[in-house]
Amino acid sequence: MSFDHPSFGKIDASRVIIFDTTLRDGEQSPGFSMNLAEKLRMAEALATLGVDVIEAGFPVASKGDFESVNQIARHTKGSVICALARTGGAKDIAAAGEALAQAERKRIHNFISTSPLHMKYKLRMEPETVLELITTGNTAARNLTDDVEWSAEDGSRTDPDFLCRCVEAAIKAGATTINIPDTVGYATPEDMLRIFSMLRERVPGADQVIFSAHNHNDLGLAVANTLASVEGGARQIECTINGIGERAGNAALEEIVMALRTRNDQYPFTTGINTPDLLKVSRMLATITSFDVQPNKAIVGRNAFAHESGIHQDGVLKNAATYEIMTPESVGWTRSSLVMGKHSGRAAFRDKLKSLGYDSLDDAKLNDAFSRFKDLADRKKAVYDEDIIALVDDEVRDHAHIRFEHLKLASVSGQPSDAELTLNVEGKVITSQAIGNGPVDAAFNALQAAFPHDARLALFSVAAVTEGTDAQARTSVRLEEDGKMVDGQGADADTVVSAVRAYVHALNKLLIKRDRTEPEALTV
Ligand code: KIV
Ligand code: ZN
Repeated sequence: MSFDHPSFGKIDASRVIIFDTTLRDGEQSPGFSMNLAEKLRMAEALATLGVDVIEAGFPVASKGDFESVNQIARHTKGSVICALARTGGAKDIAAAGEALAQAERKRIHNFISTSPLHMKYKLRMEPETVLELITTGNTAARNLTDDVEWSAEDGSRTDPDFLCRCVEAAIKAGATTINIPDTVGYATPEDMLRIFSMLRERVPGADQVIFSAHNHNDLGLAVANTLASVEGGARQIECTINGIGERAGNAALEEIVMALRTRNDQYPFTTGINTPDLLKVSRMLATITSFDVQPNKAIVGRNAFAHESGIHQDGVLKNAATYEIMTPESVGWTRSSLVMGKHSGRAAFRDKLKSLGYDSLDDAKLNDAFSRFKDLADRKKAVYDEDIIALVDDEVRDHAHIRFEHLKLASVSGQPSDAELTLNVEGKVITSQAIGNGPVDAAFNALQAAFPHDARLALFSVAAVTEGTDAQARTSVRLEEDGKMVDGQGADADTVVSAVRAYVHALNKLLIKRDRTEPEALTV
């Protein structure tokens, strides 16, 4: 590659650009929506992680999306900020340009479908019309910024000759990055390698742009397809934290980055990712969205570096490389798990939080978390990292409208339970009483009395944070109202209190969602 990229200047041929779409493709998936403050926190964390491009949203889709792209463009420094737009929509491109106006470095990403299936049934357009739109769309975007990306939606199922014509038209109209998504997660690694090799060989001007891979995980091949794309010549990877995204998700950022780093013998490429931050950012996203990663998830799952069998434990003690292909520290895990007790002071607690990645807690949240830690240390023999994480996650959750204050329960087997619940609703303390079929039912009925609502409880699950009967419980609650779905989480040594905290968290999210204008249907 021998050209100056508008945002990155001269790029080394072995450097892979990391384009994170957690806040756009990731946020698009059901249950993963974030409010403005949460998106800003994530954008900040992504910039610190070393992501090259942050796709912040789809400004024309809703007022909320416009606002979040605009705020991220104003405040998040260090990464290129990117906004999505449809190639055919003049309004889309104008909205993207306006939302990005204050960004330090900005990119407009425009896309249109190019596969026969999508052009015929979704767009109802002739291929020649799509080609014309590619020219007008990229020209319009290029008038607003020098950094323009064009995507061939459903590119992996597009006729190769037509794909070459589309890419050529996009390059001629000024696109500087060409993205070929496997939109429906259908491709194999061989397909992706072939597509990128073909485009680089056949399209005039291919050496003047960066090719980009965007793989969905419907067959569980997103990461493998991305690595194959890099082998085929792609030098930008589109991915999300924890692999969140439409349907089965996108390629997981942490997996790709660690595959490139760990198997550098096979993939001699570098990224700008500060890998010891990976776990912290993964947890931040899980906390914000209330979706834990599965325990066996590569890199960031709870079991990713756990060795259960005696033979493995023995091997790791003798030489960690026997069963560990990368060090836990290289992705942010710390080895010591047993931490603190009731005599630990505020400074030690703050240090501990720092080592666990919570370095931006404000004083009020730190005080609340410390006082909950002291309560826990009084009741629990040993306080582990996992306990502290559960407790702090609970503190940083959004409790803008409703806060849990106090719960009193009376329960005798075979009889209805009594609950007395105190909430703080926008500064007003409300206490209510209710009975129920067991303590959780009684507590939820008291919650309904204190804060009447129509949401339906769609999911309720409880898990222990650590081992032992004194372990904290972590509860997940899903609420549904008028087709809107939200998930909440809560943790506490008292299982019923953890359930109430989770319910309150979900209600807070629902209130934010009620205020949000939903995007109008987008068809092009
Ligand atoms: O999966 C896809 O095709 C997309 C495009 C908008 C890039 O997300
Ligand atoms: Zn996608």
